[in-house]
Amino acid sequence: MKKIALTILTLVAAIMIQAQNIPVYLDETKPLEQRVEDALSRMTLDEKIAIIHAQSKFSSPGVKRLGIPDLWTDDGPHGVRPDVLWDEWEQAGQTNDSCVAFPALTCLAATWNPAMARIYGENLGEEALYRGKNVILGPGVNIYRTPLGGRNFEYMGEDPWLASRIVVPYVQGLQSKGVAACVKHYALNNDEEYRHQVNVIVSDRALQEIYLPAFKAAVREGGAWAIMGAYNLYKNQHNCHNEIMLNKILKHDWQFDGVVISDWGGAHNTEQAVKNGLDLEFGTWTDGLTFGASNAYDNYYLALPYKQLILDGKMTTKELDEKVRRVLRLHFRTTMNRNRPYGFLCSDSHYAAALKIAQEGIVLLKNDAPKGKGTAPVLPLDATKKQRILVVGENAIKMMTVGGGSSSLKVQKEILPLDGIKERFSNAEVDYARGYVGDTIQSYNGVTVGRSLYEMRSNDELLHEAVEKAKNADVVIFVGGLNKSDYQDAEGHDRKSYDLPYAQNEVIEALVAVNPRLVFVGISGTGFVVPWLNKVPAIVQGWFVGSESGEAIASVLAGDVNPSGKLPFTWYADLNQCGAHALNAYPGVWREGNKIIDEEYKEGVYVGYRWIDKQKVKPLFPFGYGLSYTTFKLGKVTADKNQLTADEQISFSVSVTNTGNRAGAETIQLYVSDKKASVDRPVKELKAFQKIFLQPGETRNVTLTIGRDALSFFDETTGQWKAEPGAFEALIGTASDNLPSKCSFELK
Ligand code: BGC
Repeated sequence: MKKIALTILTLVAAIMIQAQNIPVYLDETKPLEQRVEDALSRMTLDEKIAIIHAQSKFSSPGVKRLGIPDLWTDDGPHGVRPDVLWDEWEQAGQTNDSCVAFPALTCLAATWNPAMARIYGENLGEEALYRGKNVILGPGVNIYRTPLGGRNFEYMGEDPWLASRIVVPYVQGLQSKGVAACVKHYALNNDEEYRHQVNVIVSDRALQEIYLPAFKAAVREGGAWAIMGAYNLYKNQHNCHNEIMLNKILKHDWQFDGVVISDWGGAHNTEQAVKNGLDLEFGTWTDGLTFGASNAYDNYYLALPYKQLILDGKMTTKELDEKVRRVLRLHFRTTMNRNRPYGFLCSDSHYAAALKIAQEGIVLLKNDAPKGKGTAPVLPLDATKKQRILVVGENAIKMMTVGGGSSSLKVQKEILPLDGIKERFSNAEVDYARGYVGDTIQSYNGVTVGRSLYEMRSNDELLHEAVEKAKNADVVIFVGGLNKSDYQDAEGHDRKSYDLPYAQNEVIEALVAVNPRLVFVGISGTGFVVPWLNKVPAIVQGWFVGSESGEAIASVLAGDVNPSGKLPFTWYADLNQCGAHALNAYPGVWREGNKIIDEEYKEGVYVGYRWIDKQKVKPLFPFGYGLSYTTFKLGKVTADKNQLTADEQISFSVSVTNTGNRAGAETIQLYVSDKKASVDRPVKELKAFQKIFLQPGETRNVTLTIGRDALSFFDETTGQWKAEPGAFEALIGTASDNLPSKCSFELK
C-alpha cells in the first residue's frame, strides 16, 4: 500500500514539474549551449541590443522579461572597488563596500607560486560575490616593457611564462566562485602615456612570444569568461574592435567563447565594433550623461546607432546574435548560476590570504653587514631586543590602497608600515621622522587617507630632524619608493623619470652617513635608480601589499617570515639597460596632426632579461633574483634523457637542500637556450620553475619538465610555432643570472 502511494506521489511530482514547463534556458540540467540558443530565440531586437552595452558606469542590463538580471562589473584587480554613482565616477558613498585589499599583482607574481594566485582568485571572488559583482575587471597581464609604465604594479612582470603560470590559477580561483575574470588589457597596452593614441608596431614574433602568451594561457588554460580590449591601437585599429586581435587571434585561433568587453571608453565606431569582435560596450562618453538625452547609453556605438543600421537593412543580425550568445553565456556562468557559493566581505580568511601572499611576495634584495660594523647582516632584526628603531619616510604613514587609478580601493583596514613595525617591535622604542614631503593629497575618488599627511615644516627641517634622530638610533628603517600619485605608479600616465621622487635620495644619503645600520624598504610596483646601493646594507622590496602591508613588512624585517619572493622583472641600474629606452623606442613618434603616436617595439623579443643577456650587461638586480635568511644548495642536475622527439617531454631533477638554520623557500628556475636556430633567439628563456619549502637541513628533489612548446619560437614565415631539431641546453638555478647547472639535450 505504502509503496503504491509513494509511486503515485512521485508520478504526481513529475507531472507537476512538467506542468511548470521550465523553459530550457532556465533548466540548469540542460547543456549551456542549448540554454543560450533557447534564451536567444526568445529575445526581441531591443532586448538583444540592450544587453550588449552598458546602462550605467559599471552595469549592463539583463533581460527583465526573461528573468535574467543585470550584470555588474567592478575593478579589479586587487580588491573590489567601492561603488560609484550610476552615471558618474563619484563615489556612491555606500557604507557596506569597504573591502580587503590584496597585494598588487607585481607582488603576486613575485611569489613565483601559482598556489598563491589560486587563493588570491578565490578570496577576491568571495568579496566580489558579497558585493554583488559578477565580473572583476582584472587581472592585468600586460608585459613590463619599460620601468616607467604607470600600471606596471597592476601587472605580472616582464616574462610571458611567469605571467602565464600566475594568471591561470588567479582566473580559475576567481571563476570557481561564479565570478568572471575580465583579463586586461588585451593587448599591447604596455605603457600609459598617450594610451588612447598609441599605435603599437611590433613584429609578429614579439607579439606571439612576449605580449600574447599570458592572455592566451588565461583563455586556453584558465578558461577566462571575459577579456577587456585595450585602449591603444594595433595596425591602426583600436584594440577594442581590432580585426586581427579579436576576430583572428582571440576568437578564431584561441577559440575564446567568452565576452570581449571594451575598456571604458575604448569603443570608437559602430561598424568596427559590430564586425571586429567587440561584444559588450562600456564607458563610452556621451554628452547626455550630464545633460540632454533621457538615456545617454542609447547613444553608445552598440546601442541605437547599431539598431538603426539593422532596421535600415544595412546590417543583418548575424553579428548581433553572436554577441548576444556570448553575453548570455556569461550570464549563465555568473548571474544565472544557482550553484554559486555565498560571498563574504572582510572575513578573517581573506585577511589571512592577503597577508600570506604579501609575505611570500616581498623580495629581499640586499642583506649585508653595515659598513665598519662586523660581518653580521643587518636583517632580520631581533624583535626581542630592547633597542631604538627610527622609522623614516612618507611611505611609512601613507595608505597605498588609495590612488593609482581604477585599482584604487576603499579598505576596511590597512596596516601602515609604521604601525606594523611598532606593533611587532613592541620591545623597542620606535620613533618616526618623515624626512621629506612627497604628496600630501588627503583623498582620492572620495576615499580619504587614514592619517593626515599635512605638513608645515620645510624639507630642510624634516631632513634635520631625521638625521638628528638617526644619530641616536640602533637601526634606521627608511620606508620609501614611489606612491600612487599621478606620474608614479598610477594609471593614465607613465613616470617622467626613473629616479626616486622627492628628496628621498638626499635623505637616505644623509641618514646612512650618520647611521650605517640602515634598512631601505621600497614600496613600488617597479624599479628605480638606487644611487646609494653601496652604502645601504639592506634593501627590501615591499611592493604595494594592501590591507596587511605593515604586518607583512614587519614580519619579514623581524624574521618571522623568511623572505622568498623573486623579482618578476629586471631591475635596471639605469634606463639605458632597457631595450625600449636604449633603442629610443618609447614613447613613440607623433604623426602629423598629433592624433596618433606610433610606438615601434624595436627591441622585438628582447624584453627584460632577454635584452640584458643580448647586451651582456649587469642589471642592478636580475629577473628571478631574491635573497633569503637561509642558504640553499643545489645538487647535480640529472635529465631523464638526452634526446627527445617533438612529441616527448624531458624532465630535469635536482636536489635542493636548506643548508641554513631557518625554514625557507627557494625557487628553482629552468631556462632554455637554443644552441642553433634559423632565427635570432634570446640567449635563454624561462620555461619552468618551482618553489620549494624546506626545513633547516631538509633536502628534497625538484623535477622540472618541458616539452616541445618550451623549445619553439613563432615562425613569421608560416605563422606557426616551430621547434627546430638540434641542440638545446637547459640552464637551471635560482635566478636568471645564477644558473650553474647546464644540461645539453637534442631535439630529434
Ligand atoms: C581602465 C580599466 C578599468 C576601467 C574601469 C579604465 O580606465 O583602463 O582598467 O577597468 O577603467 O574602471
